[in-house]
Amino acid sequence: MDDRFNTIAGWTLFGGIVALGLSSLSSHYFEADKHHRPEQMGYAIAGVEAESGGGAAAVLPIANRLATGDLKKGEAIFAKCKACHTVDQGGANGIGPNLYATVGEAIATGKGGFAFSDALKKVGGNWTFDQLDKWLTSPKAFADGTKMTFAGLSDPQERADVILYLNSQGSNVPLPAPEAVPAAGAAPAAGAAAPVVGDAAKGEKVFAKCKSCHNADQGGANGIGPNLYGVAGEGIAADKGGFAFSDALKAHSKDTWTEANLDAWLTSPKAFADGTKMTFAGLSSAQDRADVIAYLNKQGGKLTLGGAAAAPAAAPAKK
Ligand code: HEC
Ligand code: HEC
Repeated sequence: MDDRFNTIAGWTLFGGIVALGLSSLSSHYFEADKHHRPEQMGYAIAGVEAESGGGAAAVLPIANRLATGDLKKGEAIFAKCKACHTVDQGGANGIGPNLYATVGEAIATGKGGFAFSDALKKVGGNWTFDQLDKWLTSPKAFADGTKMTFAGLSDPQERADVILYLNSQGSNVPLPAPEAVPAAGAAPAAGAAAPVVGDAAKGEKVFAKCKSCHNADQGGANGIGPNLYGVAGEGIAADKGGFAFSDALKAHSKDTWTEANLDAWLTSPKAFADGTKMTFAGLSSAQDRADVIAYLNKQGGKLTLGGAAAAPAAAPAKK
């Protein structure tokens, strides 16, 4: 195996021989910062990273994709896995192992004695969100020689959705906080990240989704959630007539509700403050978030809005 691999790696480096390129990919993968890729994918992973010269540069971090992920969609995507996997507690192994409580668990272990391949056993470590994302991008690239003969999910958001679903099946590992990146997924190709500018009038309509728990009028009462008058620009979980905030949100109380924080919160309250009492899945549309933030700001807020996705002065240099 090793001899063969060396030969192959040699060929790849020497002439970029295409068809065998993927055989060497897994090892490059573990050689930290080398970004050698085969000239062309020799394996059917429709379009995965193939176009972005810098590897995964164009794909949002898994934390961000999880934050905007959709559990229901993940369950639907899992249909693709069902030919080989069950995911219910105590479910039987099939062609692949039962996947109950796999997120967070050690890779290729347990599972009622399922006979994992040496390739997967060699990987070591745990099924973190990041590792699962890589695995589901291309099982073969992740563990060359794996028994999972599944090409992979080329859509980064589909991977996040199905990982969310897996996590809901017996794992419930807390989701990582989204990383600050310019432009939430939208139009990354544009030279400058277009700021998503909010429209307060539209935002008032979006706010209908919030009204079962909040009002935003001056002097309005607290309901299931606190009154939101003046919240934009104010301290997080700051006194709202004695509203009993969760410890999860109070943990952020040194910060203020800047535009960016409001945007992250409204993307996924749970990802922003795991354990929050705001049982609201989040607004997946960046425009809806910008609009509702503009509306909140009109209701006694003190922010100068520039568009939540607008890269601040410290943004990474553009080419
Ligand atoms: C054609 C059958 C097949 C399909 C389809 C398939 N898998 Fe697998 N899966 C396997 C096999 C076989 C293994 C064991 C791999 C090994 O030992 O190398 C595995 C292993 C895994 C593991 C590692 C389990 C552990 O305990 O370490 C995860 C996670 C996983 N699959 C997720 C998925 C997901 C999610 C999908 C759908 C998007 C999927 N698989 C589709 C056959 C399949
Ligand atoms: C199902 C009820 C519910 C819905 C729907 C809801 N919220 Fe909340 N919201 C809460 C609760 C409860 C809290 C307090 C959270 C905590 O303490 O963890 C909260 C807190 C907040 C805060 C922080 C307030 C502060 O003073 O720190 C903001 C901002 C907010 N919500 C905005 C919104 C917006 C905008 C929407 C609609 C897009 C919305 N919420 C939908 C229940 C809800």
